[in-house]
Amino acid sequence: MRQALRPYIGSFQWQGDPVEGVYELLSHHGRFDIVAHEQAVARTARRIAAAYGIGGEKIELAAALHDVSAIIPDSERLKVAAALDIPMLKEERQVPLLLHQKLSAVIAREWLNITDGEVLSAVACHTTLKAGASPLDLLLFIADKLSWDRPGEPPYRQAMERALTRSMEEAALCYLRHLLYDPELLAPHPWMMRAFRELSACCEQ
Ligand SMILES: [Fe+2]
Ligand SMILES: [Fe+2]
Repeated sequence: MRQALRPYIGSFQWQGDPVEGVYELLSHHGRFDIVAHEQAVARTARRIAAAYGIGGEKIELAAALHDVSAIIPDSERLKVAAALDIPMLKEERQVPLLLHQKLSAVIAREWLNITDGEVLSAVACHTTLKAGASPLDLLLFIADKLSWDRPGEPPYRQAMERALTRSMEEAALCYLRHLLYDPELLAPHPWMMRAFRELSACCEQ
């Protein structure tokens, strides 16, 4: 495991079910809120997957891994990402919270030896999405937004659920529209903008 991750993971070795391992590590850091959120994301993802006939344990794994980087405080994310040689965009340097998707994927690879490209891709774009998103990328992105970790109901929930009856692409676009029309959003992430343009072109045909 890379040296930069040792202060957060230390000797916390895990050989068994990686999903349980993630929950143990988050609990060890007192992040029971993230465990509850990830379990909610897994439930939402299973519900959507059943409606679309998508199966597999990759859903459980991606949901459990996606916010594991919550073990790294926001104020240390930039430093850790640099030490791990994670390529960083200007928008991520300005808002280090945006780095947490890439950091989660690196922790999955370095700590749990997860090599499944589909799972790592979904984890690494769960906040911003990206162009050319796979079904698992879309599924995790949507489930994360519908299972937000703030009090109350997401303002976009009903519109997103309606869009989900048509397609995952429309549901993702519905959320991106909500976000990008928010005047308080200062620096939209380039991956998000590319996903938005691609989904707009495909859903409006
Ligand atoms: Fe996240
Ligand atoms: Fe999340």
